[in-house]
Amino acid sequence: MVTRGLEVAVGTGWGLRGGRAGTGSPSFLQFERCRNGREKVDWRNNAGLGEWSGESEELGETNNMIKGLILGILLGLLLIAGCVYLYFSSGHAPIATSAPPIPFEKTFARIGLHAYLDKLPHPAPQVAADEANLISGAKVYKEQCSVCHGLPGEPKGAIQAGMYPAPPQLFHGTGVTDDDAWESYWKVENGIRMSGMPGFKGQLTETQIWQVSVLVKNADKITEPVKKELAAGATTPMSMAMPENPAAKPKKK
Ligand code: HEC
Repeated sequence: MVTRGLEVAVGTGWGLRGGRAGTGSPSFLQFERCRNGREKVDWRNNAGLGEWSGESEELGETNNMIKGLILGILLGLLLIAGCVYLYFSSGHAPIATSAPPIPFEKTFARIGLHAYLDKLPHPAPQVAADEANLISGAKVYKEQCSVCHGLPGEPKGAIQAGMYPAPPQLFHGTGVTDDDAWESYWKVENGIRMSGMPGFKGQLTETQIWQVSVLVKNADKITEPVKKELAAGATTPMSMAMPENPAAKPKKK
């Protein structure tokens, strides 16, 4: 009778109706009965068009319910797609950097980035975190990074203040000192899509990228010579360059 259950399902699926009136036992029971082996299973006989079980009506109802459910889900999905399209096409999506984030934008961006990074190899830094490398890293940093990520003791510049997402200040607070160097290495090499963080692959050598990654990893414990290198004016301090700019004024503590 396994076959009968199947046959009935197929039959109603194609819109055929069982000939006999329902016996009242839903067909999954029938199914069980067959499984228990109390009725003989004759695949060929039952697979033929000869006999339609009476339980098909109830099965038909179940089938209709499933069809309705699937239709409902499809319509729901279409509705969601339509709403998303309308949200963007009607000009409601945030475009300006100062506009509020799309709901869950940051959360999803972070989940996506970390899920991706977790799958990568986690190499150990290819350069030692000694003063020579940190000074070389500082040279790279002040030329390529400080415009967005700031310098120690300097207030935010206009570019940093105007970006969305805001570039984290790597020499203020925790920065990325809590990330492994390989993680910053990957971000510097490859950039972060749709954030303004450029990828420096091909622009900086691997050694330079390691040096700057080790520098930002150790941003909270840099020595005076490294600080000096950072301060030695590749970029004019913002407070000097734009004294009128409120973003450039040192914050009152
Ligand atoms: C044009 C601006 C810009 C420049 C130049 C830039 N960055 Fe970024 N960077 C960003 C932005 C914006 C983010 C934030 C991305 C985000 O929130 O997803 C970022 C993120 C990062 C992060 C990850 C921070 C975190 O919290 O996980 C690191 C590390 C980083 N940058 C290092 C560098 C280094 C090193 C350089 C120079 C070689 C550099 N960046 C140059 C804009 C910039």
